[in-house]
Amino acid sequence: MAHPFGSQRLWHLDAPSPAAEAAATEQVAAALLNSVVGGASAAPRRRPRFHTLTVQDVRPLTDDAIEVTFAVPADLAGEFDYLAGQHVALRAELDGHEVRRSYSLCRPPEPDPVTGSGRISVAIKRDRGGRFSTWALSELHPGDRIDVMSPQGTFTSALAALDEAHVVGIAAGSGITPLMALAATVLARSDSSRFTLVYTNRRATDVMFLDDLADLKDRYPARFAVHHVLTREQRSAPLLSGRIDEERLRGILDALVLPATVDEWFLCGPFDLVQLCRDTLADIGVEPAHVRYELFTTGEPGQERPEAGRPIELREDEPVRTIEFTLDGQSGSVDTPVSAGESILNAALRVRPDVPFACAGGVCGTCRARLVDGSVTMTENYALEQDELDRGYVLTCQSHPTSDRVVVDYDV
Ligand SMILES: Cc1cc2nc3c(=O)[nH]c(=O)nc-3n(C[C@H](O)[C@H](O)[C@H](O)COP(=O)(O)OP(=O)(O)OC[C@H]3O[C@@H](n4cnc5c(N)ncnc54)[C@H](O)[C@@H]3O)c2cc1C
Ligand code: FES
Repeated sequence: MAHPFGSQRLWHLDAPSPAAEAAATEQVAAALLNSVVGGASAAPRRRPRFHTLTVQDVRPLTDDAIEVTFAVPADLAGEFDYLAGQHVALRAELDGHEVRRSYSLCRPPEPDPVTGSGRISVAIKRDRGGRFSTWALSELHPGDRIDVMSPQGTFTSALAALDEAHVVGIAAGSGITPLMALAATVLARSDSSRFTLVYTNRRATDVMFLDDLADLKDRYPARFAVHHVLTREQRSAPLLSGRIDEERLRGILDALVLPATVDEWFLCGPFDLVQLCRDTLADIGVEPAHVRYELFTTGEPGQERPEAGRPIELREDEPVRTIEFTLDGQSGSVDTPVSAGESILNAALRVRPDVPFACAGGVCGTCRARLVDGSVTMTENYALEQDELDRGYVLTCQSHPTSDRVVVDYDV
C-alpha cells in the first residue's frame, strides 16, 4: 500500500543540530510574524489535557451517526477555544478498559462573547464492530459527563486572509465533520470567500449533516457549492453516481471545481480516497503546500490498536536505553530494555500517566514531542508534516530509541 508521505515506512531521526534548530526557529518566527501581520490565526498549541464536560445534547444525524454537544463552562473556555478543523479526544471506561478516540469538531468556534462559556460539538459515526462509536451511539445521553481533551490538530486554514478565497473540501462519510466547521467558518469570515464541497457517501440516507448543508446553501447561495456523490445510488448526473476513481475525480475537478481558481484544499476520508486526491492534484499542478488532509484511520484493516502503557518486565542483567523527557516543565526519566523495542510513549507512561496520547497509532498527532538529543526510529507517521519533521518533532507513540540516551520535550 502506498504511504501518504510517499514510499517511506520508517523514519530514522536524529535530534536536529544546533544550526538546524536555529534555522527552524527562525523559520517558525517568520511564519508566526507573517501570520500575525496577515491576520491569520495560528492553531492554539496547548498541552493536551482531559477535562470532564457535560453532554448538553445528542442529535441523530443519520441512522448511524450522532452529533454530541458538550457544554464548556466559562472557567474552561481557554482550554477549549479552537480553530475550525481541529479535533478532541474522548475518553471512557468500557468493560474495565480505558478507551480513547479522536473526533473532529463540527461547528465553527463561537464562544459566548460576554460569559466566555460555550459549547463544542462532535459527530460520531458508528464503525461496525467498533468499540467506542457503538457505545457512544447507544449510551451517550444529555446530562452524562465524559472526559474530553483540549482541541488539537493542524488541519486548519493557513490562508492569511479569506477575502476572495476559494476553498475546496473533498470528504467521504464521517470525513465531513471537520469540513462542516471549515465551510461555515470560511463563508462567515468574508463576504467574498467561496467554499466548494464534494461529499461522497454510499446512499442518500448515509449523508451526515444533510439539513445543515442545505441551510448553508440557503444562506450563501452564490458562495457555497455542494456536490453529493453517491456510490450505491443513481443520481441524475452520471458524474455524481459511482465510486470516485481517478477518471471521475478528474471529471468533477474539471466540471465543478475548476482547480485553477482554488487557494486551499482540504481532504478528509479513507486512506485510498485521500491518496487518490493528493496524487491527482499533484499531477494537475496543484502545489502540495496548498493541500491539507486528515486521516481518521491508517486504513489497514484489522489492525489492533496498540496498548499504550502496557507493562514491560525490567530484568537486572538486560541492557537498557534511557529516555528523558520534559512535560509541564517537569523532567522525567525511564529505562527501557533494548529487547523490548517499546515506544517512547509506552515507556514514559510507566512513570507519568498523564503523558498525552489518543490514537496510539500515528494518526492524531496528540503525542507529538521534540527530539532534543539522541536518535529514534519512527514506524508510522500519518500526522506530522515534513516541516515538523525538519524541526525535530516526532510522534512518541511510534518512536523507538536507537541511541543509549534519548531526550524529548513535550512542552515545545
Ligand atoms: C484526528 C481524527 C479525527 C477523527 N474524527 C472523527 C469524526 O469526526 N467522526 C468519526 O466518526 N470518527 C472520527 N475519527 C475516528 C474515530 O477516532 C474512531 O477511530 C472511530 O470512531 C472508530 O472507533 P471505534 O472505537 O468505534 O472502533 P474500533 O474499536 O477502534 O474499531 C475500528 C474498526 O476496526 C475493526 N476492528 C477492531 N479490532 C479489530 C480486529 N482485531 N480485527 C479486525 N477488525 C477489527 C472494527 O470492526 C471497526 O470497524 C477520527 C480519528 C482521528 C485520528
Ligand atoms: S497518539 Fe495519535 S499519533 Fe501518537
